[in-house]
Amino acid sequence: KTPIIIDTDPGIDDVIAITAALFAEELDVKLITTVGGNVGIENTTRNAVNLVNFLGKGTPVAKGAAQPLLNKLVNASFVHGESGVGGYRFEEKENATVLSTRHAVEEMKELILHSAEPVTLVPIGPLTNVALLLRMYPETKSNIKEIVLMGGAAQGGNRTPVAEFNIFADPHAAKIVFDEQIKIVMCGLDVTRLTSITTENIREVEGFGKVGDMVSRLLSDYDSTTSSHNHVTIHDLCAVFYLTRPEIFKGKRATVNVVTEGEASGCTVTHYTEDGHVFVCLDADVEEFRREFVSTFKKAYEKMEG
Ligand code: BDR
Ligand code: CA
Repeated sequence: KTPIIIDTDPGIDDVIAITAALFAEELDVKLITTVGGNVGIENTTRNAVNLVNFLGKGTPVAKGAAQPLLNKLVNASFVHGESGVGGYRFEEKENATVLSTRHAVEEMKELILHSAEPVTLVPIGPLTNVALLLRMYPETKSNIKEIVLMGGAAQGGNRTPVAEFNIFADPHAAKIVFDEQIKIVMCGLDVTRLTSITTENIREVEGFGKVGDMVSRLLSDYDSTTSSHNHVTIHDLCAVFYLTRPEIFKGKRATVNVVTEGEASGCTVTHYTEDGHVFVCLDADVEEFRREFVSTFKKAYEKMEG
């Protein structure tokens, strides 16, 4: 099993991606770290803790950066609702012991430095915590296997015409991360917009007990703002499926320059080159992705209730 840390701002698609990762046979989610992004840090952290409890897992959660490095906080509550999970309400459990008393960056450092196997980072929110980690504890770099992230776009944007939300929210952090010579897999809008899920897929998942009910309810709220023609884009799930089913994705190697100022702030300027340290996902087997979506939550249901 690949040891991973998920750095996240749940967020509807984050919740779905984390759930998929927690039940994936190929992955061992060692830690979940939270960041302010889609909504504020208190809400993203509460959502992460509630999710872990709801799924009956003991995965530790650590709260990270509330604010981007330099920019003012921008959120996406118009997509994810004020709470971050639309109208969905997790049952709050008393025994929410999974929340660490240490900062996310400290937890990441300890875990990476003490891991027998190199750790894969899976950031699916703004890159603030990851940038802080690399700057504060550069000794962790040699035990990071790769960074498989959702963010950016070789072409286009969703927060502005040229910037994707996670990069736009903290472009300075993104620049620190992309400028490192660490292997990065970029699941940006180029591929996340391709791998949409249909309403039929969601209807199927709806029948999968508690977990299916959660996924379908979350998507019914998210649907109205991010879907078109009965399709929903679950951006963050691409990063998890890249790890569990890499053969679904195709891409090219590149270097990526992040624009940090001005009108194009948050743009990920992508230069394709064979020796680039970033693998940019550009294409995917969409039918296989959809099958994987349905089978992932079927397996999660069987494990939870079977
Ligand atoms: C990204 O922005 C957030 O709203 C989503 O959770 C995802 O990580 C998509 O641009
Ligand atoms: Ca996210």
